[in-house]
Amino acid sequence: MLLHLFFLLSLFLTFIDNGSAGITSTFVRTKFPAVDIPLENEVLAVPKGYNAPQQVHITQGDYDGKAVIISWVTTDEPGSSQVQYGLSEGKYDFTVEGTLTNYTFYKYKSGYIHQCLVTGIQHDTKYYYEIGNGDSARKFWFETPPKVDPDASYKFGIIGDLGQTYNSLSTIQHYMQSGAKSVLFVGDLSYADRYQYNDVGVRWDTFGRLIEQSAAYQPWIWSAGNHEIDYFPYMGEVVPFRSFLNRYPTPYKASKSSNPLWYAIRRASAHIIVLSSYSPFVKYTPQWHWLKQEFKKVNREKTPWLIVLMHVPIYNSNEAHFMEGESMRSAYERWFVKYKVDVIFAGHVHAYERSYRISNIHYNVSGGDAYPVPDKRAPIYITVGDGGNSEGLASRFRDPQPEYSAFREASYGHSTLEIKNRTHAFYHWNRNDDGNKVTTDSFTLQNQYWGSGRRRRKLNKNHLNSVISERPSTVWF
Ligand SMILES: *[C@@H]1O[C@H](CO)[C@@H](O)[C@H](O)[C@H]1NC(C)=O
Ligand SMILES: *[C@@H]1O[C@H](CO)[C@@H](O)[C@H](O)[C@H]1NC(C)=O
Ligand SMILES: *[C@@H]1O[C@H](CO)[C@@H](O)[C@H](O)[C@H]1NC(C)=O
Ligand SMILES: [Fe+2]
Repeated sequence: MLLHLFFLLSLFLTFIDNGSAGITSTFVRTKFPAVDIPLENEVLAVPKGYNAPQQVHITQGDYDGKAVIISWVTTDEPGSSQVQYGLSEGKYDFTVEGTLTNYTFYKYKSGYIHQCLVTGIQHDTKYYYEIGNGDSARKFWFETPPKVDPDASYKFGIIGDLGQTYNSLSTIQHYMQSGAKSVLFVGDLSYADRYQYNDVGVRWDTFGRLIEQSAAYQPWIWSAGNHEIDYFPYMGEVVPFRSFLNRYPTPYKASKSSNPLWYAIRRASAHIIVLSSYSPFVKYTPQWHWLKQEFKKVNREKTPWLIVLMHVPIYNSNEAHFMEGESMRSAYERWFVKYKVDVIFAGHVHAYERSYRISNIHYNVSGGDAYPVPDKRAPIYITVGDGGNSEGLASRFRDPQPEYSAFREASYGHSTLEIKNRTHAFYHWNRNDDGNKVTTDSFTLQNQYWGSGRRRRKLNKNHLNSVISERPSTVWF
């Protein structure tokens, strides 16, 4: 009788196991060519008027969302670094003075890069701002996030490996229809490094003009990828990240970081940690010391959602960049599990992939499990390297699909994470389906802190699953 039961049970388990095998989507899109938009195309146009501000973009300027950094470029003369802003359009009660910088790259001379930190603004408020002078002044607006609160709802977008092709434009336009309030950018911005000599600087400028339609109105939270390194010995350019660091400031000092390439912010109910895959990160490096402290500062009672951004994915079953994330995994995965990170977003691989909750923290060279295993404490890993750059798609997934891989598809698109409250967030991946936005992978994300352990029982006792997919039988826990 017992044996019989056991037999039935193992049959049942086998069934569940088969049911939870991941999905490799075979969707094939008719491709737009993966070519950069020509310089003369109107989406890259320089705004009209003498010395008109261009490449306007904003990012969070402090730890908690009561400041923004506004950045722009003028080309005819330095002009003013002032931002005028207020609560209604055209009526500005405040003025703040920014800073000016310029740099050369090979023989390219950058425009005058203005950066202005606007502080002391109120939460949950729409601000109007104006930059530039006279006839060429330009007007924009932005909305501040709600104050840091465990139940503050907020919608983030996630974009990676964007570039400046027609596919990139399609991703930006679809993202702008999503209603999300801020972009978590997982690295590889302009792909200007695919050009040479003075064209590198020129293509950083065109990228700035391309993203302005969104980035001037809402913060893009930047992390750096390999295409930000800009290492060109034959051109005499060997200092890494120069173009990126001159153009895309981050609020790193607010999180006590010593380097703009890694930092953290809190926004609404989320604590967001930005890591640099291409800066030293092993034990005892500045990034390691900083991350160790930052994890201790995370207060899930205030910010239930813990999100990490990095460029190189830790789990990836594509042939492209397979296992490149192993070095960072060995350095940090233990902390990701210990601190119950909800989700880790990465790019780099030009495709979309989502993992189950898995870990490989018991791996060691003398034995143990040298492969990822289901682990309900672990984050979900999501690769969104599918923004649409000129290198094209990474369409060769490894076969068979590994157990840890829940869904994968080689198309362009972006994701959104809509946080509802401390326990629930809705996640969507939206494919650029020949010009239309099509939601292709979606699930409800349950918070790792409030949705698990002691507090899970306290708050909602029936949520056994840390991930409940809308697709049938993709539940591991
Ligand atoms: C910055 O701009 C000033 C004023 O136009 C110019 O004299 C200087 O050469 C520029 N510096 C660099 C590094 O391009
Ligand atoms: C390494 O693996 C062995 C064999 O499974 C195990 O006994 C040991 O505890 C592991 N060491 C670490 C540091 O995890
Ligand atoms: C949190 O949001 C989810 C999804 O909208 C909802 O089902 C749940 O009741 C909410 N919880 C609380 C405590 O409001
Ligand atoms: Fe990359």
